[in-house]
Amino acid sequence: MKLLVIGGGGREHAIVKALKKNPAVEEIYCLPGNGGIAADAVCVPIGAKDIAAQVKFAVEHGIDYAVVAPDDPLALGAVDALTEAGIPCFGPDKKAAIIEASKAFSKNLMKKYGIPTAEYELFSNLEDALSYIDTCSIPVVVKADGLALGKGVIIAQTREEAKDAVKSMMEDKIFGESGSTVVVEEFLTGPEVSVLAFTDSHCVKPMVSSMDHKRIGDGDTGLNTGGMGTIAPNPFYTEEIAEECMEKIFLPTMHAMNAEGRPFKGCLYFGLMLTEKGPKVIEYNCRFGDPETQVVLPLLESDLLSVMQAVTEERLEKEEVIFSRGAAACVVVASGGYPGKYASGYEITMTEDAKDHTYVAGAKVEAGKLYTAGGRVLGVTATADNLKDALAKAYERVDGIRFEGAYCRKDIGKKALSVLEDK
Ligand code: AMP
Ligand code: GLY
Repeated sequence: MKLLVIGGGGREHAIVKALKKNPAVEEIYCLPGNGGIAADAVCVPIGAKDIAAQVKFAVEHGIDYAVVAPDDPLALGAVDALTEAGIPCFGPDKKAAIIEASKAFSKNLMKKYGIPTAEYELFSNLEDALSYIDTCSIPVVVKADGLALGKGVIIAQTREEAKDAVKSMMEDKIFGESGSTVVVEEFLTGPEVSVLAFTDSHCVKPMVSSMDHKRIGDGDTGLNTGGMGTIAPNPFYTEEIAEECMEKIFLPTMHAMNAEGRPFKGCLYFGLMLTEKGPKVIEYNCRFGDPETQVVLPLLESDLLSVMQAVTEERLEKEEVIFSRGAAACVVVASGGYPGKYASGYEITMTEDAKDHTYVAGAKVEAGKLYTAGGRVLGVTATADNLKDALAKAYERVDGIRFEGAYCRKDIGKKALSVLEDK
């Protein structure tokens, strides 16, 4: 079989490596991929948003199955276009991808179907938003309606800050049209859990839970990033909570999308907060999370390609989706200065063991050598019987990776370990 994966980050590298385990796979193409993924797939410089070129490539290369991983092509209808061209693929169509592409849509969906989430108001008029902020309690959360590279969420500690956020989104259009509608919502507190789930619109099969580490600094300090590391499973997510989520969130979401005429097929990502009043949805993503995928897929014992095909063919109910009972850790190594300004083009060296367990996010290859080419450069992973050992192994591998200015958090998994020790 010839496969196509659209995207070019650490998540896509993890997907490519997992797909490769199936012996029927002869070749994987990745569009655009990156210098690190090039060790495992044929990377072709076609952008993730260039859907016409992706379809042309897929048809010309006789692709048997495609996986669309990032939010942009999903929201733009890559799955619709590939399917129309006769190429079966994994991922929601454009109609269903709206669950991530529009927060106004997802918030209204949750309200309509009684799915627990933060209280909120939607505004497309600046004056209305500003006067509402005068009345709401602080802190308050301001979100741009559309896709904003994960940067469209501001947790405002003062009314002034909330108003500035609304103005920058609605007036200055810092996120373009994404910010012409804003959500102003209640600030929730509690541990955060990411749950990715396979769904074919008839059943939901959740994957092992995980925990992201979004801030740049140790102890969850400093600026937000695309994710500095992940661990799985998330110890806050007990079996009891998992059952509650299935009953109150996962299945209701699947049924709600069906009732709206937008059946969701693919990986549905639930960003949850475990509040005192129970689990609530912080956000939906219409795809695998990054860097959650880098810890979830190494624990998948079932064959990824078979599960994906079962989703596409709407026969997931009968497909086994089994995860190892062990733990996984991923430590992201970034360019010094990220998420602010950073330099690129430094040579990366890795020990063989580190290389075998690394998913590359931002690197290019030149004359057989790998060079940094992004903020988050790579994610170093390990699996073990328990989290403590997985973390120790991952950090040991990090020591086997060198490039100038390399930075990683030293406390990935620390909070999770302390929960496990208290149990
Ligand atoms: P998002 O891009 O929607 O995942 O939001 C980014 C981060 O902002 C989340 O992971 C949360 O940590 C935080 N966040 C978003 N919404 C809320 C909320 N209503 N209350 C508290 N924190 C939030
Ligand atoms: N890790 C969060 C995301 O993929 O959006």
